[in-house]
Amino acid sequence: MELMQAIRERRSIRRYRKDPVCGCAIAGLIEAARLAPSWKNGQCWRFILVRDHEMLQRIAGENYGAPACIVACGLPEESGRNNEQDYYLVDVAIAVEHLVLAAVDMGLGTCWVSGRMLEEQKIKEALGIPEEVRVVAMTPLGYPDGDLPPAPAGRRRPTEEIFFSESWGAQG
Ligand SMILES: Cc1cc2nc3c(=O)[nH]c(=O)nc-3n(C[C@H](O)[C@H](O)[C@H](O)COP(=O)(O)O)c2cc1C
Repeated sequence: MELMQAIRERRSIRRYRKDPVCGCAIAGLIEAARLAPSWKNGQCWRFILVRDHEMLQRIAGENYGAPACIVACGLPEESGRNNEQDYYLVDVAIAVEHLVLAAVDMGLGTCWVSGRMLEEQKIKEALGIPEEVRVVAMTPLGYPDGDLPPAPAGRRRPTEEIFFSESWGAQG
């Protein structure tokens, strides 16, 4: 699939079929994440695939009905700080988005989950994640069920609101 097509077709999937995801697809997703760029090439990301039903229930609840989820972690010490900003969040986010776009290419659905829906301490305890590691995001993983929401599912700001030419606010 062409990259722009995958970018256009990606959307957050919140309903999945139960069909398992084969190991070769998982390997492809992790390879896409592994090749992502990162601050000083620190590659501070780690990914945990969870397929065990009880564990899924514990860390992801209904998991939108998906048979698996991927938990994306970052090691702040392996990344770094610049301009008073932690780069592990940037690094892990880029890698996750690589994975998410590769999933589109394979007909698989994902949905970024972070913020309040992601219970970091509970996930860390359940999966044995070391104290110094942060859980940045997780995504259900599986084949979308039913009609896909329109792409892009969420409203997008118009180009003139987000893109300037030469200086802030200037239109080309
Ligand atoms: C960093 C990040 C965190 C997100 N967290 C959640 C979340 O916790 N729960 C959820 O249902 N969707 C979450 N989303 C998905 C967004 O709601 C979604 O990307 C946005 O509404 C646009 O829709 P689309 O992805 O279908 O184009 C998150 C997306 C990003 C990038």
